[in-house]
Amino acid sequence: MDMTTRYMGLKLPTPLVVASSGLTGKLDSLKRMADSGAGAIVLKSLFEEQLSAVLKQTSEDAWMSAHAEAYDYVANFQMELEPDTYLRLIAEARKSLSIPIIASLNCVSPRWWAEYARRIEAAGANALELNVALLPSESRRSGQQIEEIYYRILSEVRAVVKLPLAVKIGTQFSSLANFASQLQFRGANALVLFNRFYQIDIDVEKMRVVPTARPSRGGDANLALRWISLLAGRIDCDLAASGGVSRGTDAVKMLLAGAAVVQVCTALYQNGIEHLKQMVEEIDGWMKRHEQSTIAGFRGQLRQLGSDQPEQYERLQYIKALVGME
Ligand SMILES: Cc1cc2nc3c(=O)[nH]c(=O)nc-3n(C[C@H](O)[C@H](O)[C@H](O)COP(=O)(O)O)c2cc1C
Repeated sequence: MDMTTRYMGLKLPTPLVVASSGLTGKLDSLKRMADSGAGAIVLKSLFEEQLSAVLKQTSEDAWMSAHAEAYDYVANFQMELEPDTYLRLIAEARKSLSIPIIASLNCVSPRWWAEYARRIEAAGANALELNVALLPSESRRSGQQIEEIYYRILSEVRAVVKLPLAVKIGTQFSSLANFASQLQFRGANALVLFNRFYQIDIDVEKMRVVPTARPSRGGDANLALRWISLLAGRIDCDLAASGGVSRGTDAVKMLLAGAAVVQVCTALYQNGIEHLKQMVEEIDGWMKRHEQSTIAGFRGQLRQLGSDQPEQYERLQYIKALVGME
């Protein structure tokens, strides 16, 4: 079966993209991913060096109580790589692999986004994913002001690089469809739905805030499935599904809903990198059973564009799901 797919104008041999994580920070793992059927790889995020400096200067407890979620993200998973090492990884991956290499950037202060994006493009990345992870905890900041931060970051990066840009976002925006179309309007070539933020918990014996990192579960994919099916064809950019995709059939669902690609992370932590081969086989088996010879042939067949009133369609599904439930 022909599984070639286009994502942000790049040609991918399969629609399986390895998501940014601790797994995508070493060249030998990247090679194994490519050999196992990855269509592209998003490198682990480069976090603003300032952030790691803050980590070093401040006691763990002080940092933890002030920024527990960010601490978890950065320290617990040890995602920070020095910028030079990161740029070298991009160059080496490009030299050794034939699939697209997508860099990932997560900054705090506005000036670094554009600066690092420029360096990443110069290092040879095929595309860049902006991992904008803002926790809207400031009560003085409105939803619109938070959205403006995303727009500013995207516009600043767009102005300095020609690279295809993906924006990885969370779920909590008051009007997700409007926000998504604004991002596309400002130059996003793809949206990654959705980023998963790590939660905090409280250890009542030690009386401290602790991070919780539960692995994703199958049902986690439903949220991305809904939004991909709602947005596909309505906004003029590619959609990548992320969160809870672990089987080839999960990938098929997302593609039917209109995703250009799916991103896989937890499933590879749990089953190993070679799990990608099984996912490819499952997609292949499904395509044979349903007489589909290309991804383009069935992609988006079940998106909601067919319905001119998606709100009513959603309401109908809601009522269908609840009626009969006691
Ligand atoms: C250990 C770990 C490290 C991660 N590191 C990053 C990262 O550096 N940048 C990023 O954008 N997302 C990161 N993520 C989030 C994943 O890319 C992905 O969006 C999320 O795990 C949901 O997908 P999944 O259900 O397939 O795991 C990380 C996830 C895990 C589990």
